[in-house]
Amino acid sequence: MTRHLAWGLEGRTAMVTGGAGAIGRAVTEAFAEAGCRVAVVDLDAAAAAAVAAQLGSDHAGFGADLGQIAALPALVAAVEARLGPVGVLVNAAGVIRRSADLLAVGEADWDAQFDVNLKAAFFLAQAVARGMIARGQGGAVVNYSSQSWMTGGMAGSVVYSAAKGGVTTLTRGLARSWARHGIRVNAVAPGIVDSAMLRGPAISPAEIDALAAQIPLGRIGRPEDLAGATVFLASEMARYITGATLNVSGGFLMY
Ligand SMILES: NC(=O)c1ccc[n+]([C@@H]2O[C@H](COP(=O)([O-])OP(=O)(O)OC[C@H]3O[C@@H](n4cnc5c(N)ncnc54)[C@H](O)[C@@H]3O)[C@@H](O)[C@H]2O)c1
Repeated sequence: MTRHLAWGLEGRTAMVTGGAGAIGRAVTEAFAEAGCRVAVVDLDAAAAAAVAAQLGSDHAGFGADLGQIAALPALVAAVEARLGPVGVLVNAAGVIRRSADLLAVGEADWDAQFDVNLKAAFFLAQAVARGMIARGQGGAVVNYSSQSWMTGGMAGSVVYSAAKGGVTTLTRGLARSWARHGIRVNAVAPGIVDSAMLRGPAISPAEIDALAAQIPLGRIGRPEDLAGATVFLASEMARYITGATLNVSGGFLMY
């Protein structure tokens, strides 16, 4: 009988950026559970090392500022030297700088959000795809968009949302371009997820409760709610899915 329900990820190397963040950490755990060697990449090198150490000795942490685009090929080389060829890339690192007053948004705010959310996602995918294409065995990229790619954002997150719109468009373009190499490229679009990124001075707990009340599944997301969707898109079970942006918002948006 044909097997239908296998991740097909055993023994692969999964590189997860933002791996020390709320969602990234849950994602690294899920890839480890699926049998991958996990490269935990984060700006916070010590936190990345701690996450990797908790996963076990098959995994490793890498400190990197993804805004340093020229350094990304060397980062991929370091990951591959340690853990083998990258078969899965998850671009989960993200930066938000909320500004209630759009008239006060400066160029540095724009650059900080576009550099990590969008520019690094492209150039890291490029650096990883070089090896995937050369090896001829395909691979999978999962980018982190946001439901704000559709809404334009809330609570002063217009620039962030524009970058996430770029992530969804980038995902489609890369998917179309690299399909012939067997590289699938998809995105996850979380709704409202409990994390450092969500909780901050720009949003009060009462506002978060008010948002939760509008979510059909009755609560805001937990980081681990994103793990299964991310692993699924990277896995053999999603082998005929490319260019998709998967809405994981508890029904807050439906599309
Ligand atoms: N939390 C939400 O409600 C929500 C909603 C929609 C989308 N997202 C997206 O999900 C992804 C994960 O977010 P999260 O909620 O876990 O946030 P988080 O802030 O907990 O994690 C983000 C991680 O990215 C890392 N990072 C930031 N800048 C970096 C850089 N220059 N180089 C390397 N690493 C860097 C941070 O150190 C952090 O560990 C992000 O792409 C975010 O935009 C989150």
